[in-house]
Amino acid sequence: MSDDAKSIDRWREDFPVRWDADHYLTRRELAKFLTLGSALLCGATGALALASRIGARSDWPAVRIPAAAALLPGTSLLFRYPDDAGPCILIKTGAGELKAYSQVCTHLSCAVRYPSGGDTIECPCHRGFFAVDDGRPVAGPPTRALPRVRLETRSDGVYAIGMEV
Ligand code: FES
Repeated sequence: MSDDAKSIDRWREDFPVRWDADHYLTRRELAKFLTLGSALLCGATGALALASRIGARSDWPAVRIPAAAALLPGTSLLFRYPDDAGPCILIKTGAGELKAYSQVCTHLSCAVRYPSGGDTIECPCHRGFFAVDDGRPVAGPPTRALPRVRLETRSDGVYAIGMEV
């Protein structure tokens, strides 16, 4: 018996196939399956895109940020917006301007932080950095800006009034 024949026999011992019980799949059936699968995937992607547009909010609540008025220049505090599931960071820049962003890094969702007095927001997970001015990524792996929280100063304090993604 040749070496090739021996290797085939070994293969059959390891993976016995009963051809009469096997189901044949023709090239045409495979092509049909792949085409239908692609069409379904395309349709699902479109439906998700539509759902995300419909789900875009316009009715943001106004939520008072406790202790925001007492924030010193170059420091930050954490708050939740629009509900308890949304960690955010409020920063008072060295120039006294208030900025607020989602605290969820746009790279892989670690919590960002503000090293006191700097002009960047830092993500410690992979050394990502965002500009305090507008939340745009300036260094590291993130490519998308941090969602910005719109703020409004009222007579009784600072309010978060919406988010811009
Ligand atoms: S999770 Fe923030 S840089 Fe990777």
